[in-house]
Amino acid sequence: MAFLDKHAILERSPTLLLTFSLLTVTVGGIVEIAPLFWLENTIEEVEGVRPYSPLELTGRDIYIREGCYVCHSQMIRPMRDEVERYGHYSLAAESMYDHPHQWGSKRTGPDLARVGGRYSDGWHLDHLMDPQSVVPESIMPKYAFLASTKIDGEYVGELMSTHRFVGVPYTDQQIEAAYEDFQAQADPDGDFDVDGMEERYPGAAISNFDGQPGVTEMDALIAYLQILGTMVDFSTFTPDASR
Ligand code: HEC
Repeated sequence: MAFLDKHAILERSPTLLLTFSLLTVTVGGIVEIAPLFWLENTIEEVEGVRPYSPLELTGRDIYIREGCYVCHSQMIRPMRDEVERYGHYSLAAESMYDHPHQWGSKRTGPDLARVGGRYSDGWHLDHLMDPQSVVPESIMPKYAFLASTKIDGEYVGELMSTHRFVGVPYTDQQIEAAYEDFQAQADPDGDFDVDGMEERYPGAAISNFDGQPGVTEMDALIAYLQILGTMVDFSTFTPDASR
């Protein structure tokens, strides 16, 4: 056949074959990759997902520093056993303000994507102080030192500005109120503007998490754990099928 004869020319010349292969891969690559540069957003936005509060964001940094991700993933896959154990599968939008995301793949301990609200603050405190006191067979290390490490949130505004730089939509007002909000979340009975904080960060857990005066790393870490997976209301959520 004439058509196949012409193809034989290609197959017999390494240079021609290479040139045409390259051309094919280039066209395919452009078609796949180029649209990504013009799309506004590749993540479906979902109601309820908000940037972390100053205290939560600080807790997240402690989570990363302590390597909690080495034993815990934060992504529920859409498989039946996972959904039954952990709850609704994770949505991309739920980690859109995580830089970097904490999906992970190692599960020495359970997935934490929806641990928020599952236990009381007191449970988390006991568990982090001494995991074996609540789960005797646990192999999780103790993190009691977090409760004796005071933090004051002096630089949390800068931390938020850095996150804004990489795309988290913190407002000027949120950054200005960062220190106040940081203190208010861990000290609801103090002199800080708790209502303003709640308005800026709906759904945040507000409590003296570790039961001691002053803000500690423990307060920040528990505030972070308690918001995980709670921002989207799954009783009203329906996936947008048009995308
Ligand atoms: C060496 C591995 C390891 C590390 C590191 C680790 N954990 Fe765990 N974690 C576990 C294991 C195993 C369990 C299950 C037993 C238990 O509840 O203690 C667990 C359970 C938990 C639970 C309860 C989850 C549930 O749904 O019952 C939370 C919350 C938790 N870990 C938070 C943390 C945080 C926060 C850090 C970092 C400060 C951390 N873990 C570090 C192994 C680890």
